[in-house]
Amino acid sequence: MYINPNLFFLIKDGQFIVWDYLHHTQFTLEPDYMERLRLWAEGKVESLSSIDDELEEAQLIAKEPFIQQEWGWDDLSKIFHIGTRDIAEHLIGLSREEWIESYLAYCNTIATHPPAFHIKKEAEIKVPLPTPDLSLLDQEKYYSVVKRRKTNRYFKGEKISLDILSALLFVSLGPLHEKWSDLEENGLQILGRRKSFPSAGGLHPEEAYLIALRVEGLTPGIYHYDSVDHHLTLIEEKFAEEELIPLLYGQYFAEGLAAGIFLTSRFEKGWWKYPHSRGYRMTLIDIGHASQSLVLTATALGLDTWMTGAFSDSQVEKFLSLNCSTEQPIFFIGFGQGHSSTLEPHMLSQLSV
Ligand SMILES: Cc1cc2nc3c(=O)[nH]c(=O)nc-3n(C[C@H](O)[C@H](O)[C@H](O)COP(=O)(O)O)c2cc1C
Repeated sequence: MYINPNLFFLIKDGQFIVWDYLHHTQFTLEPDYMERLRLWAEGKVESLSSIDDELEEAQLIAKEPFIQQEWGWDDLSKIFHIGTRDIAEHLIGLSREEWIESYLAYCNTIATHPPAFHIKKEAEIKVPLPTPDLSLLDQEKYYSVVKRRKTNRYFKGEKISLDILSALLFVSLGPLHEKWSDLEENGLQILGRRKSFPSAGGLHPEEAYLIALRVEGLTPGIYHYDSVDHHLTLIEEKFAEEELIPLLYGQYFAEGLAAGIFLTSRFEKGWWKYPHSRGYRMTLIDIGHASQSLVLTATALGLDTWMTGAFSDSQVEKFLSLNCSTEQPIFFIGFGQGHSSTLEPHMLSQLSV
């Protein structure tokens, strides 16, 4: 017999559990079953026992070897990726009516307890943003914007106007749509708001924290962007710009930015609608869409952009005063006037020696 290589063991609620992440099954293990699996794992089984029949039925051991997936990362990502594959196979082959019935039945089970969709920050100081001047986006054709977008690692340290910032936030992350017309016209309940980019289940778990460094008429500081009312809320005023780069694991390309945005994700929205770990994949994809919306809009407004997912999560949490494990920082996008350079001059000189 062969032991299933897709197992991990965890201790939960006073029980010892084996989790088969390939078949999405979990079993509480009594000591003799645990011991038996250990013997199989170590290749020390001398003769079959009645426990083996049960282990085989549970697919924890098998007569044929298990197919081993090729995997170049560590086990954590393997557990996550394989453990979130093929989770709704029962939906394959449903008729249209059956599919709708199954979807609505699921929605009814969660409809009673939706999370708060729009969170207003309690802070004292609200900073209004100018009415977005959308003509600022008329300078360049779409194809040219997409083609010109490039990661820039050498910023000039110049200021941008509040009008540019306002247009950037409004178009990329803000309340473009007054209504969710085709749903509202049919009398359906609306929980969230649409934005310029799609989001799994319409949840829009992203929140944006602006790190204002060089914006005319805006005191440098950390602000939360209210994506429904299109204003900023001050979180922390006048931090030292030098604080930012260590948070980004020393990536000094952030020097000279006009501003940056940390995109966080409010996990509780996903926990509500997509409670399986596969929902975590959607959360990351959502942030990717938000980021693309930001960088394309920034490019269309004549700005250069730089981005990173490499930062100290716990220090960024403190920096943004998040104080809450349900909302986590995922990505940072910096923007400003730049030299449109893939490499910053010091690094370039080291590379060209
Ligand atoms: C998910 C993601 C993470 C990235 N992380 C970093 C980073 O940590 N540091 C960095 O300098 N660039 C980072 N980048 C930028 C990429 O290096 C860049 O997009 C890539 O080299 C292609 O160049 P282009 O954006 O100019 O087309 C990241 C981009 C993405 C999409």
